[in-house]
Amino acid sequence: MPSGLNPTEEIPTDELVKKTDGDLYRQLLDQLNTKANENGTPGTVDRMIDIRRRLTEFQLHYKFGMDEVLTKINVLREEFEHTRDYSPIEHVNYRLKSLERILDKVQRYGTEPTLEGIRHAIRDIAGIRITTSFVSDAFWVAEMLCSQPDLRVVEVKDYIRKPKPNGYQSLHVILQVPVYLSNRTEFVYVEVQIRTVAMDFWASLEHKIYYTYDGEVPSNILDELRDAAVQAAALDKQMAEIREKVTALREQAPASGQGATGPTPADRPDPAHWFRGSDNPGDDGTPPWNWQEMERRTEN
Ligand code: GTP
Ligand code: MG
Repeated sequence: MPSGLNPTEEIPTDELVKKTDGDLYRQLLDQLNTKANENGTPGTVDRMIDIRRRLTEFQLHYKFGMDEVLTKINVLREEFEHTRDYSPIEHVNYRLKSLERILDKVQRYGTEPTLEGIRHAIRDIAGIRITTSFVSDAFWVAEMLCSQPDLRVVEVKDYIRKPKPNGYQSLHVILQVPVYLSNRTEFVYVEVQIRTVAMDFWASLEHKIYYTYDGEVPSNILDELRDAAVQAAALDKQMAEIREKVTALREQAPASGQGATGPTPADRPDPAHWFRGSDNPGDDGTPPWNWQEMERRTEN
């Protein structure tokens, strides 16, 4: 049995869940995982089963929320692939934050260590990352998602127009998605990061370097990373210019179809007409997806 919590110790369930030390959760999970409860008293086992049920349920709701958003992304992707020969979505990755990582964050941020506190404060338990070929596609995908009437756009961070000081570029959208459970609807947070392949390449390398040095990255490496971020942005810009040139020549291209360039912003239907009919209450005629407006609205 791992050292730490004694399974026969009398600790009320609520105390266990509210205890301020995140390590307690870890010890508890260790115990559950190693089936230490086999040696416990029936009362203790019951309490452990109850806690495990509540934690599983908690995580499951995030999985459901993430699945909802993934379905929406897949619908967009398949629709594009089947009707346009092109999709602004290159890759989609997703993950659920492990309990271990959630608890680390609880400790770092001083979040109230209850399920309710965590639900409220930690908004990246469900995370989806979308990569696109072009910068304009990143905004376009974000617009299409944020326009969907059943998603609540809680916060938008535009690190593409305003990169972080280290060079990081990405669009971050915090959504709330309704999960229809057997007896209630729960809105769960899902973090969606959208960026180009070049931005993603930079971010994954930077992330690995950050962890290699345990956060204390030597200044010459930081300088090189900033330089690489500038070059990644220049590559994105050049790719967009090439795309524009190819698009301009599209009419004369030997093969028909949108192929390498895809629809340009000028080809986009007005999302105001996709998602909001004139019979939609509260429709004031303004496109719901204006990105800068969205960012301004969610800033606080
Ligand atoms: P977290 O508490 O870490 O979630 O950050 P935050 O609440 O300040 O939000 P922010 O939108 O800045 O960052 C959220 C996520 O974006 C992080 O968890 C990373 O996945 C990613 N991210 C943000 N900044 C960087 C960065 O400088 N480098 C890399 N590689 N990823 C970053
Ligand atoms: Mg995060």
